[in-house]
Amino acid sequence: MEASTAEQLKRQAAASALEYVQSGMILGLGTGSTVVHFLDLLGDRIRTGELKNVVGVPTSNRTTSEASQAGIDLIELGDSSRIDLTVDGADEISPDLDLIKGMGGALLREKMVAQSSDRVLIIADDSKAVSRLGTLSPLPIEVIDWGIRGHVQFILNWEGEASVRMRNDGEPFKSDNGNLMLDCRFSDGINEPAQLEAELQARAGVVESGLFLNVADLAILGTHTGPKKVDRKS
Ligand code: A5P
Repeated sequence: MEASTAEQLKRQAAASALEYVQSGMILGLGTGSTVVHFLDLLGDRIRTGELKNVVGVPTSNRTTSEASQAGIDLIELGDSSRIDLTVDGADEISPDLDLIKGMGGALLREKMVAQSSDRVLIIADDSKAVSRLGTLSPLPIEVIDWGIRGHVQFILNWEGEASVRMRNDGEPFKSDNGNLMLDCRFSDGINEPAQLEAELQARAGVVESGLFLNVADLAILGTHTGPKKVDRKS
């Protein structure tokens, strides 16, 4: 697929997500290249007056800057007791709407914002749809740097390989929170995502994992035949 076509599919999903946005809403704003399309289109609707009194809660420094440029008013998480709707991207989407997120490095704030949201809507091009988590994308895990080798061994015990994410300049990547990211690859996908998530949540030194299980309510996938909506079944 040409890169431009993938961008068109992301934009198609982003445009479709706007149907769920109403004036007066508080919106969680995810992070990533698909969300950029959503911010752009949302900014247009605000500028033309089609949407009024919409405010966003950004999930990263990147999104804060992009949303501000698009003319979207922003508040911080906690400024409002609830968020009406969060729109975010994903790195993998399973048929049950379980996700891997965090290749953009923003998984902690994304999960915090999603947990404060009445509804979570995921937008992506259809290349992100997988039948089994961990087969397309590494699983990112945000960790403190001290004792990191213990987490690498933990992932080995799960038949995976963990490596510290590096920047192009050779320095370790740091999240907006100043933490490291471990990208974990599993040759045959993740066997028991719920069990892995429970064990990760119980590990001191793990800040947050990129497994987003039972978080998304709806996904909109951009496809060559138009937007495909997938609802959570349960
Ligand atoms: C950011 O940390 C991620 O969770 C992104 O939502 C995810 O990487 C999707 O990004 P793209 O829309 O750029 O594929």
